[in-house]
Amino acid sequence: MRQILKVEIKNGKSYDIEISDDSFENLNRRIFELTAGQKRFVVISQKVYELYADKFNFLEDEVFILKDGEKEKNINNYLKIIKHAVKSGLTRKDVIIAVGGGVVGDIAGFAASTYMRGIDFIQVPTTLLSAVDSSVGGKTAIDLDEAKNIVGTFYQPKAVLININFFETLDKRQYMSGLGEVLKYAFIEESCGYTSPLYLFEFLTLGCDKVFEKEPLTLIRIIEYCLNLKIAVVNQDEKESGLRKILNFGHTLAHALETVTKYKKYTHGEAVVYGMFFITDWAYSHEYINYSYYRLSKELLEKYGFKPLQGRYEAKKLVEIMKKDKKASKDEITFIIPCDKKKVKSIGIKPVNVMVMLEEAFSK
Ligand code: GLY
Repeated sequence: MRQILKVEIKNGKSYDIEISDDSFENLNRRIFELTAGQKRFVVISQKVYELYADKFNFLEDEVFILKDGEKEKNINNYLKIIKHAVKSGLTRKDVIIAVGGGVVGDIAGFAASTYMRGIDFIQVPTTLLSAVDSSVGGKTAIDLDEAKNIVGTFYQPKAVLININFFETLDKRQYMSGLGEVLKYAFIEESCGYTSPLYLFEFLTLGCDKVFEKEPLTLIRIIEYCLNLKIAVVNQDEKESGLRKILNFGHTLAHALETVTKYKKYTHGEAVVYGMFFITDWAYSHEYINYSYYRLSKELLEKYGFKPLQGRYEAKKLVEIMKKDKKASKDEITFIIPCDKKKVKSIGIKPVNVMVMLEEAFSK
């Protein structure tokens, strides 16, 4: 099965996303078709390389293997990728291909967007999280100790090739991390501006068992659901001047947690889940959401086995990090709150009040 979704950014680039359960042989052929006549430079996750290198016809000097984990999305690895690309003779007419999860996609995309002022880039996401979210929409970045994704670009790929067969070897933790981002889409679906009704929330409520079985058709449906929503948002607001902010539900606390733990403790999806619990609880206790929507939201998160954050962190440190968040303004930290199925709010809160919010949550 092969589905094609089209990204058509207002006053910007258009490209195809291919979603399939094809053989790896066909995926390899597709990569070579799309890059015919170009030199390929592949940034690949170590795990994916160990499991799947023999499925692809990449030459040894075309491959940069990146260790797994958010902590690898750093400036040293970025420089290594660029130097390796220079050494292998990559020119402006050539292409960088990311084969891996969100970390690989973000750092390889950033390298592609800056190498010789920008060369072609193809995303081959191999995790659920990168398939449903990070491989599409053109955000590229690396992290610094001070803040996550603080150095980056908006740079759209030439194509995104999703093959769900990679998910067979995805461990439970990584799969759950992807489901965290999937649930995010269920909470914001009616605010993305996608014109046909999708019912992701209901699909995830009723289809939980099939999701856990990684049933292929269910996976393809979920990817389509999430990406149709993401495309609708990105087509209207590529550079996050307004609507795109809603994709950051759960992300304000998430990024701070990832940063404060030096990108070693939580996967991105785990941190997003904690962020969604945190702001949902706060929003309910401050009457931004009513009881019935609060219960519905919590029930969906709990149905998938997610729980609120157990660890405790210094509120002051988290707030200092949040102040550096890209969504923050001069004197307010931004949080995204789905108030009900039809309304997602972006609210600014003064750092001193965020400190109180965090202290309250940690004292429970
Ligand atoms: N992951 C959020 C975005 O792409 O905007």
